[in-house]
Amino acid sequence: MDIHKISELAQQQKSRSIIGLFSDRERADKYSISAAELYLDYSKQNINDNELTTLFQWANEQKLSQKISSLFAGNKINGSHINNTEGRQVLHSILRAPESVQHQILGSDSSEVVNTDKKMAAIVASINDGTLLSASNKKYTDVLAIGIGGSFYGIKVALSALKSYQKSGLNVHVLANVDGGAVQEKLQLLSVETTLVVVISKTFTTQETLLNAQAVKEWMSIATNHNDIMAKQWYAVSTNITKATQFGIDENNILPMWDWVGGRFSLWSAVGLPLALAIGNDNYARLKAGAYQMDEHFKNTPLDNNMPVIMALIGIWNRNGLQCPSLAILPYNHALRALPGYLQQTDMESNGKSVSNDGEKLFWHTAPVVFGQEGTNGQHAFMQLMHQSDDIIPTDFIIALQGTSQYTQHHDVLVANCLAQSEALMQGKTLQQAQSELVEQGLTTEQVDKLACHKTMKGNTPSNTILMEELSPESLGALLALYEHKIFVQGIMWKVNSFDQWGVELGKALGQQIINVMQGHDNDNLSASSLTLIKKFKNQSIL
Ligand code: F6P
Repeated sequence: MDIHKISELAQQQKSRSIIGLFSDRERADKYSISAAELYLDYSKQNINDNELTTLFQWANEQKLSQKISSLFAGNKINGSHINNTEGRQVLHSILRAPESVQHQILGSDSSEVVNTDKKMAAIVASINDGTLLSASNKKYTDVLAIGIGGSFYGIKVALSALKSYQKSGLNVHVLANVDGGAVQEKLQLLSVETTLVVVISKTFTTQETLLNAQAVKEWMSIATNHNDIMAKQWYAVSTNITKATQFGIDENNILPMWDWVGGRFSLWSAVGLPLALAIGNDNYARLKAGAYQMDEHFKNTPLDNNMPVIMALIGIWNRNGLQCPSLAILPYNHALRALPGYLQQTDMESNGKSVSNDGEKLFWHTAPVVFGQEGTNGQHAFMQLMHQSDDIIPTDFIIALQGTSQYTQHHDVLVANCLAQSEALMQGKTLQQAQSELVEQGLTTEQVDKLACHKTMKGNTPSNTILMEELSPESLGALLALYEHKIFVQGIMWKVNSFDQWGVELGKALGQQIINVMQGHDNDNLSASSLTLIKKFKNQSIL
């Protein structure tokens, strides 16, 4: 079996009614699963028992279980199926495993991981209890985390998701974009004397991060004790200790990252330092524990009962079979508002490829365009298109059953809206239904004829609903690990390398050429369009 067979099978079912599948009265129970801290209802997907069985057969033929085992066994990936373009192991999930498991996989290298965790925890404890003070002997009030991409999104999503767990009193800020406006906005909030800076960059060569770090360094250099500030108030997380020390960060304040942890999977490494400073060591450990629970489920559960595997295979069914080019992520939870942005990176940077891991051109689509927003805001924006355009947009709805605020009525309305949207996307409204409603409202035949077609909704849009009892460090950890593993499985099935990202390189190289042109150098590689735009930039005029 191959992906074309799967696509053909799904295409035959494209117009089948999802609601019709509920004639199986057991469907809601059968098509749902609990794992770690999460519950997944996939009964609103356009798929039946036989088709699911076919997907699992296909996964078996592709030796998915062995590949999952090899991910967790930490097999040397070099030249193998996972990351052979960079020759690296893929071991981020080891970072949330107990020490004994880390030792089993990493051998003597595990001590470095354990020591880094301990060092990080000690930094967090001593800053949080006020024993580690700034260069002016003041208690820290703020942390500024400078990083971009994978050195930013994980922290961002977890900081906002776990805001109610922030107990240290420290304000943790993130600075990613290379935009002077963003730098200025942050610095206005901060005091040189009480701000701890953490520069996060796996490579320590990323232009955006270095330029931002340099700007912050200059802002701090006005202080008379600026050498002391550099020595005490600056930390870095990086694999590139040399570059970080050259920048001026004390070697003792540099926490290592590992070559075998990809940027977008790095929240579980010392990259989590700013987050741990905000929520404390205990809550940070709970986050990892939640992710570990999902790891254990993913590693040990047969494919047909395995939450990440089910989500991944249905995602492929939708993408390649039902030919849906996008995926909406709609958390009905303000605290999860950064999740769609986070998943855009993890999903699209991992699987947005069209060449196989072995270098063959692929003849099927891979990652969908991921987008989304917190509900209910999306309802008053792009969801119009989801209900009435021709495009079918599969959706993941996410809800925490317990609200966190005193406004209980709000939570009821929020949850009701979420459930209503998944129902509306599935049920739709036929022309006849629209006509009958208008007749009941007392409209004339002429008015009904005119209006009814505008009031129909296509329906038949597949969705998942993911529930957690409460948004806690554990459930967030499990949720992030669920998507990580879903993406891993899809990478295997699509045969892409989910762990490189060469696509971002060309833009970086051309960016440098453009800077050169701005500085007066000739360039015959750039288009007339770009050269004209550069000229306007140099003249600071659109004329
Ligand atoms: O966006 C490309 C990318 O390479 C990401 O994968 C990475 O997370 C980000 O840039 C930042 O890289 P670094 O951590 O090395 O600064």
